[in-house]
Amino acid sequence: MMKWQVQTFAHYSGVAVKQTAAEDNAITVKIPAEGLDELKGALAAMKLKYKNIILRDMEENDLDDYIRWNTTETEWQNWDAPWEIDKSTPFTEQVALAKKLVNNYIVPDDPDNIRKRFEICSEKETHIGWVSRYCIDENYSWSRTGTNTAIGIDIPPPDFRGHGCGENAMRCFMQYLFDNGFDILYTQTWSGNDRMIHLAKKLGFRECDRKTNIRIVNGKTYDDVTFKIGILKNIIKE
Ligand SMILES: CC(C)(COP(=O)(O)OP(=O)(O)OC[C@H]1O[C@@H](n2cnc3c(N)ncnc32)[C@H](O)[C@@H]1OP(=O)(O)O)[C@@H](O)C(=O)NCCC(=O)NCCS
Repeated sequence: MMKWQVQTFAHYSGVAVKQTAAEDNAITVKIPAEGLDELKGALAAMKLKYKNIILRDMEENDLDDYIRWNTTETEWQNWDAPWEIDKSTPFTEQVALAKKLVNNYIVPDDPDNIRKRFEICSEKETHIGWVSRYCIDENYSWSRTGTNTAIGIDIPPPDFRGHGCGENAMRCFMQYLFDNGFDILYTQTWSGNDRMIHLAKKLGFRECDRKTNIRIVNGKTYDDVTFKIGILKNIIKE
């Protein structure tokens, strides 16, 4: 199958370049500027629909949501690594961080790359959160060079929780990763997040590591818990 790469649209002075990934068979096609938007949409943006959710690439409009979710609507942070909450970061810095995040993901450098992150939308296309993958090492700690892959999820607006969106978004992301060559996935949370623990188990993850009493939240100690799942050909339920 022919694979296309799209390279830096804006910086080719009106010309997009696409070429085959196969080095021995590289073709370069120059496309006139008026075809750019269509090409960008067709090749760069990815959208996966499953039951009541959509997973899609980041869009410019997502910035407002990320600013809100990192400044005023931050309840979700009480559940996702709450020991990392730092209320001292000034508003302007949070906005800058949100801009950086959106810029990093808005058009994947290489649209053929396996996505590290998708935005979750409701079936009516409301942006409600994200799923992402990251590397962990053999001790289950985050590591840029780690060889294991963990996935995470957040749905900041409480109104969209408890309707199956989390389950379906995880199933869809897991299926996408399994289809793209991942054999084993991990997911991580802490022992105070009953909802996430329930969801991980419901998806078929099994606990594989527990670091006891290493987190303190509101004066109480909790464990870090890591779950593991091996390849399931059909995590998506028909
Ligand atoms: C965790 C999260 C992603 C789950 O998404 P969701 O859309 O709420 O999840 P779903 O509706 O698909 O499923 C939730 C399940 O948890 C169950 N649940 C809800 N509250 C629960 C609780 N306090 N204890 C145990 N299970 C609970 C629900 O009954 C449901 O299970 P069921 O389908 O068997 O009935 C979402 O709630 C969220 O983003 N929370 C805040 C941030 C967070 O915790 N992120 C994870 C960080 S590790």
